[in-house]
Amino acid sequence: MLDVAACPEDEGALERHDDDVRCTTCGRVFGVEGGVLTLLPDRLAHVRQPTPAPEARSGEDDVRWIEDELEWWNPWHDAETLQPFRPRSGLRGRSREKHLLGRVRGRVGDHPIVIEMGAGVSRTVAGLWPEGPRYVATDISLPALQAGRRILGPQTASVQCDAVTWPFRESSADVVLILGVLHHLSDWRAALERACRTVRPGGFLLLHEAVTKPRVLARWRAGGMDDGWVSPHEGDVPATALRAELERSGEILHWHGEESPLRFGMVRYLVTRPGRHELLEGSPALTIAFNALDQAFGRGPGRLFPSLGFNEVTTVWQRRT
Ligand SMILES: C[S@@+](CC[C@H](N)C(=O)[O-])C[C@H]1O[C@@H](n2cnc3c(N)ncnc32)[C@H](O)[C@@H]1O
Ligand SMILES: [Zn+2]
Repeated sequence: MLDVAACPEDEGALERHDDDVRCTTCGRVFGVEGGVLTLLPDRLAHVRQPTPAPEARSGEDDVRWIEDELEWWNPWHDAETLQPFRPRSGLRGRSREKHLLGRVRGRVGDHPIVIEMGAGVSRTVAGLWPEGPRYVATDISLPALQAGRRILGPQTASVQCDAVTWPFRESSADVVLILGVLHHLSDWRAALERACRTVRPGGFLLLHEAVTKPRVLARWRAGGMDDGWVSPHEGDVPATALRAELERSGEILHWHGEESPLRFGMVRYLVTRPGRHELLEGSPALTIAFNALDQAFGRGPGRLFPSLGFNEVTTVWQRRT
C-alpha cells in the first residue's frame, strides 16, 4: 500500500516507521488503528476519531462539511449490514457486476491494484471481487473501514482519508472504484480529478453515481421523497458535467442509466417498508423484473419527461494512454 499512497500534506513518499508510517518529505507520522492507516491532512486530523470533541469543530466550510457528514455516516455504517453484495441478485450487486466489474475483470491481469474511494464497508468488492485484486479500501469513516475488514480478505489495505484531497500517487492503480460517493462531497470535481489521475494510462475508473434530476411534480412539492434519510449535504452532480469531466482525460466506454421513479417507488413500498429486503437481495428473478420495469419506465416516459428519467448512472471510463 505504501507504493500507492502519499502524504496528504505534500504528496511525499511514505515509509514504514516502527508500527506507524512516516512521510519521507515532511517527517509527519501517520498512525494505524485496527488495521486502518489514517492519512488525514492537519486540518482534518480531529476527524480521526468517530466522535471528535465539539470544541474541535472547524470554522472552515469544507471541514465543517466533513464533520457534519461524519456525524451522519459513522452511526449509519454502524447499523449497516455486512452482507456482501451478490453478483446475480439485489439491485446494487447485479448492476455493479453487469455494468461495472464484469466489464473490466478480464482486462487487468490476475492481481490488479484496485483502490476504492468512499468504500464504506466494501460490500461490493467483498461480494463481487473477493479474490485476485490487491485492494485498498479508503473512506473518511474509521468505523466503516474497520467493519469492512471483517468481510474482506486479510490482504486488504484500508486507509482513512478525504476523497477531495485523495492521497494517492498518479498512475498507481489499475482500477479505481467510486460507488455512490461524489454527490456527498464538497467538491466532487476535485475528487474525480484525483481519482482519474490515480488510474494508470489504459486503466479503468468504475463509477456509480446519483446524478441531478428534476423532482417529480416539483412545482407542487417543496421537498423530495428521500429528504428525511439522506446525508446532510447532498451535492449536485449533473450528468452532462460528469461526462465532460471524464472526457477530459479519457474515454467513456459504457454509460447506463437506472433508478427511475418507478423503481424508487417499488423498492420503497414493496420492499423497504414491508421489510422484504432479503427477498430482493436473494432473488435473481425479482431483481431482473425490477430492472426490466425500471428500464421500460426510464426509457419510455423518462425520455419525454426528465423528472421521470433515471436518477443514477453506472459508467466505465478508461484513461487515455
Ligand atoms: C453512499 S455511501 C457509499 C458506500 C460504498 N461505496 C457503497 O457503495 O456501498 C458514501 C460513502 O462516502 C463516504 N464519504 C463521505 N464523505 C467523504 C469524504 N469527504 N471522503 C471520503 N469518503 C467520504 C461515507 O463515509 C460513505 O461510506
Ligand atoms: Zn509529508
